[in-house]
Amino acid sequence: MGIKFISTGRYLPDKILTNFDLEKMVDTSDEWIRTRTGIIERRIAEESIATSDMVTFAAKKALKKGGLSPEDIDGIIVATVTPDNFYPATACWVQKQLGIKEFPAFDISIGCPGFLYGLIVAQGLLRTGECKRILLAGAETMSRVVNWDDRNTCVLFGDGAGVVILENSNDDSDILASNWGADGSLGHLLIQPAGGTRMPPTHETIDKKLHSVSMQGFEVFKHAVRWMAKSAGQALKNAKLTAQDIDVYVPHQANMRIIEATIERVGIPMEKTIITIDKYANVPDATIPLSLDWALEQGKIKRGDIVLMNTFGGGFSWASCIVRW
Ligand code: UT7
Repeated sequence: MGIKFISTGRYLPDKILTNFDLEKMVDTSDEWIRTRTGIIERRIAEESIATSDMVTFAAKKALKKGGLSPEDIDGIIVATVTPDNFYPATACWVQKQLGIKEFPAFDISIGCPGFLYGLIVAQGLLRTGECKRILLAGAETMSRVVNWDDRNTCVLFGDGAGVVILENSNDDSDILASNWGADGSLGHLLIQPAGGTRMPPTHETIDKKLHSVSMQGFEVFKHAVRWMAKSAGQALKNAKLTAQDIDVYVPHQANMRIIEATIERVGIPMEKTIITIDKYANVPDATIPLSLDWALEQGKIKRGDIVLMNTFGGGFSWASCIVRW
């Protein structure tokens, strides 16, 4: 029995923040952001909107596209590093908003690869029969956790949510192979330092902006290229495929130069690579499902295509999944 992506959906806030808008906020330029990252604009959630709201909007679209009602779902997984609350899980709020209950709903919090970690976990739940149809989301409200005075980080991120609905199927669609991992010794290089039990919130942590993203960009860059390429290579090996067998490559979208360096190492041409960083920027856990939904809408992914998804982020952590769509 295989596992099938029945439908997808995405939600992006209407508000667009362009590089030119950022020029008025910090010492930066459209030229720097565009050439160093590939980002042109990003979406910013309205004040009244939290992560679960965006997941719910995207979920409703995915359910509609799949001809499903909320009652057809019996598992919700939300990958996010910007949950509504520490607890309850954002997935529980989504469950409430969809008006359904009495099945597992939980979050995965690892960093950008969370959506693919979620896919690997969902695969286990479906193959063992624990769940029949899972709503898997990646969603972020990064605008609430970036330091808008720090040009090194505030230009890089955006808000949004993407959802996929997965079920067991008897056709050729399947998750063919995966690779995932983490190296906790490098966690300090990409971190939101305060707010947890290590550094609880105080006036001082707020004054020092320690509740925001802190990143050593160049270190993250180097490790991202190395691990995305290595993880993609291992997933290909596990699937007994080569880079030439890949029809569509969906990489994490943190920096256009990371994507270019990775595809060169893996051996995938740019024509097969999905790019959304220009319009959405880095939306950590949401990047892969947003890119999938956009690519499907553009006709860039078709049933039967071999799709490689490949991510890297905080932890450090990485994950790759190869699916026959
Ligand atoms: O989702 C996973 C998490 N994130 C990532 O994977 C991001 C990985 N890292 C990167 O994408 C890149 O390292 C950055 C885009 C963050 C930075 O690019 P870089 O080419 O590594 O630049 P840099 O950090 O080496 O900085 C070069 C210069 C510095 O100025 P000085 O010290 O040479 O005078 C920075 O202060 O660029 C400066 N700079 C900026 N200038 C204008 C940094 N940010 C900006 C900015 N506008 N927004």
